[in-house]
Amino acid sequence: MPELYLAGLKETEREASWREWLTLDIDVFVAELEGEVVGFASGGAIRERVEGFDAELFAIYLLREAQGHGIGTALVRRLAGSLKERGFGSMVAWVLEDNASGPFYTWSGAVRVCSKEMEVGGVMLPVVAYGWGDLEAIAAGVGSGSV
Ligand SMILES: CC(C)(COP(=O)(O)OP(=O)(O)OC[C@H]1O[C@@H](n2cnc3c(N)ncnc32)[C@H](O)[C@@H]1OP(=O)(O)O)[C@@H](O)C(=O)NCCC(=O)NCCS
Repeated sequence: MPELYLAGLKETEREASWREWLTLDIDVFVAELEGEVVGFASGGAIRERVEGFDAELFAIYLLREAQGHGIGTALVRRLAGSLKERGFGSMVAWVLEDNASGPFYTWSGAVRVCSKEMEVGGVMLPVVAYGWGDLEAIAAGVGSGSV
């Protein structure tokens, strides 16, 4: 992510955006440890057509200290189950090509589907779509990494 973009993020603006997003038809799950929110995953109907997929994992983030303990896996499973209940069958996630989380997606059974450039903070960056073909399999823990 461009440093300028990250430095320009403001908590009050993000809070206002989240208040609006939470009124939309999206699913958001948070992970809590000892009563504190340590991460979230959000998803819903796919925003941009990707052949063969109908839903999208919009974002997943965990606090650094909460990473590496299976919480991301639990959030992806929970989101997949919810999207499945809503009638979706598959899911993609757009991820920055350089993002270190790529192995997490492949571990959870996703495959690279396509790529494009996306504008982030005024800079064009390469992004990859990871796709899961079967939400039911994710929710049931049948991914190649047993998510
Ligand atoms: C990516 C993220 C959601 C994964 O959640 P997590 O709870 O840390 O992942 P899990 O513990 O469930 O990992 C499951 C498996 O995925 C793989 N994996 C997860 N994160 C990985 C990483 N950064 N690099 C390599 N493999 C990774 C591992 O194989 C892991 O299994 P193992 O621990 O038995 O080896 C979380 O680390 C995160 O929020 N990272 C920072 C923000 C981010 O990159 N978000 C995605 C933006 S698109």
